[in-house]
Amino acid sequence: MPERVNVNGALGGPDEAAISPLDRGFLFGDSVYETIRTYGGRPFLLREHLDRLRRSAAALDIDAAAAPVDIEAEIARTLAAAGNPESAVRVVVSRGRGPLGYDPAGCGPPTVVIHVRACPSIPEQWRREGVDVAIVPVTRNAPAALDPAIKSSNLLNNFLAWREAFLAWREAHRLGAWEPILTNASGRIVEGASSNIFVVRDGRLRTPPLEDGLLPGITRAAVLELAGRDDLDAGEASLQPDDLRRADEAFLTSTLKGVLPIRRCDGWPIHDGRPGPVTRRVMGLFEALAQTGSNRGAAPGSSLR
Ligand code: PDD
Repeated sequence: MPERVNVNGALGGPDEAAISPLDRGFLFGDSVYETIRTYGGRPFLLREHLDRLRRSAAALDIDAAAAPVDIEAEIARTLAAAGNPESAVRVVVSRGRGPLGYDPAGCGPPTVVIHVRACPSIPEQWRREGVDVAIVPVTRNAPAALDPAIKSSNLLNNFLAWREAFLAWREAHRLGAWEPILTNASGRIVEGASSNIFVVRDGRLRTPPLEDGLLPGITRAAVLELAGRDDLDAGEASLQPDDLRRADEAFLTSTLKGVLPIRRCDGWPIHDGRPGPVTRRVMGLFEALAQTGSNRGAAPGSSLR
């Protein structure tokens, strides 16, 4: 049974799962989440994901420690019930049920939903040739409005960016972009709707700094560490849209995408439109890390430490 849903410990199929219509996650998007994937059947970088889940919850004063179930144990149980060779796991922790006003008093305990499905596969052609992105006219939430560092399930900002890339862009240019790239209020590139972004120029690998307002991706951190260890010149720098358009190479990172080369931005090829040497080197390093993590059985801890 490849798809299993666990609601506060009640495990079943997607059609049986239910939460209250008075759950704040449903009413306000008042919840946080993580997407985790397995390699070799084991959750990869689980410790990092659970730490970020706790940080996201704490930033919204959601008391994850008051959850009615042990989240890590329930992830393992749900994975086992689904029995996929490789799974994608979405863990949602909401503030729980409460009265209709904003006052969180009287809300809770938190609702924990764990959704496990077969890991969606990235076509080999995308890894080989790269994917297309478009810089969309949707500004990433300002940190002072809804900090993108909080992985909240309030995802309308991301969805509106996606809609631009998939619908408006396709209408105007007759080609769909696969991942929308958002800028912040100062016009700097920050991240994709569901990924972080890296560019390479003159051999230097750069990704926007957290201060520019983005999610501190687990894959992003792993890539920075792996690249640094491998003596690549890798670090953070603010990026303008032209830094991406004129890059020698560029790639996306995320849990489900891994490291994915960018082929074109706004319809124009990045350099010669083929994944370059730094991108390929980083892809190799990341692949090796994922394999080591799964072979060693290192999860649920980190294979990076
Ligand atoms: N998305 N930025 C945003 C806005 C994201 O939603 C994600 C992840 C990332 C990459 O983070 P990580 O490397 O920790 O997956 C960056 C997940 C996969 C999702 O939305 O399901």
